[in-house]
Amino acid sequence: MDGIRNIVILTGAGISAESGLRTFRADDGLWEDHRVEDVASPEGFRRDPELVQRFYDARRANVMAAEPNAAHRALGRLDDAWDGELLIVTQNIDDLHERGGAGRLLHMHGEALSAWCLACGARHRWTGTLLDEPPCPTCGEAELRPDIVWFGEMPYGMDRIFAAIACADLFVSIGTSGAVYPAAGFVQQAKSAGARTLELNLEHSQGSHWFDESRLGAASALVPAWVEEMLR
Ligand code: APR
Repeated sequence: MDGIRNIVILTGAGISAESGLRTFRADDGLWEDHRVEDVASPEGFRRDPELVQRFYDARRANVMAAEPNAAHRALGRLDDAWDGELLIVTQNIDDLHERGGAGRLLHMHGEALSAWCLACGARHRWTGTLLDEPPCPTCGEAELRPDIVWFGEMPYGMDRIFAAIACADLFVSIGTSGAVYPAAGFVQQAKSAGARTLELNLEHSQGSHWFDESRLGAASALVPAWVEEMLR
């Protein structure tokens, strides 16, 4: 793709589906078994912290048991070889992008392998459980919560994301349904900043009509082929 130097890539649960991590809104999606307001809101956490801790302890264990797939590895190659600007903005809380080799990465919805202390504000890499109320390694208080952005909370890194979109030549969306804002609005911002827009997804997303091009299929096939094109 000629004249492309600055790329912003948005990823969602679909890129990790082939690594065995459930998406949210598929027939067998996570939101089929759990009410969002129970497990993904500050109110739900206050109401029933055990339910929430158990939910994220299970997701943390799934993340650690999963392996990056061909799509994650292809983005790792792109990150390695691309000498223009590149920012991968992921809505995913797994660390498969990092294990796939990506470094220019931002987790806008938080990380499963991070715990946040509500007493002292410290964040810690966390691979264990939180249901048993372990003490914070910094202040010793048993006030750790999953470092996840819940509904009604402000996503992380928004200034950095908007700045990257404002000077993007190409905006690519991979494996997301376009159901949740502010991520679902990035394509419109990219378009009004003059960027070319490309969607790689299993099916048309709710925002497909905003994209110059939509390629439908599995991320493990579409993403390596697209990266090949970019590095040619
Ligand atoms: N390859 C490519 N795309 C896929 C694949 C695959 N193998 N499997 C599923 N998809 C697509 C689906 O077609 C769907 O459009 O991925 C998308 C997944 O959509 P959602 O389940 O809605 O997940 P996501 O878009 O990441 O959700 C956004 O919502 O629940 C909140 O905070 C949570 O970050 C999440 C946000």
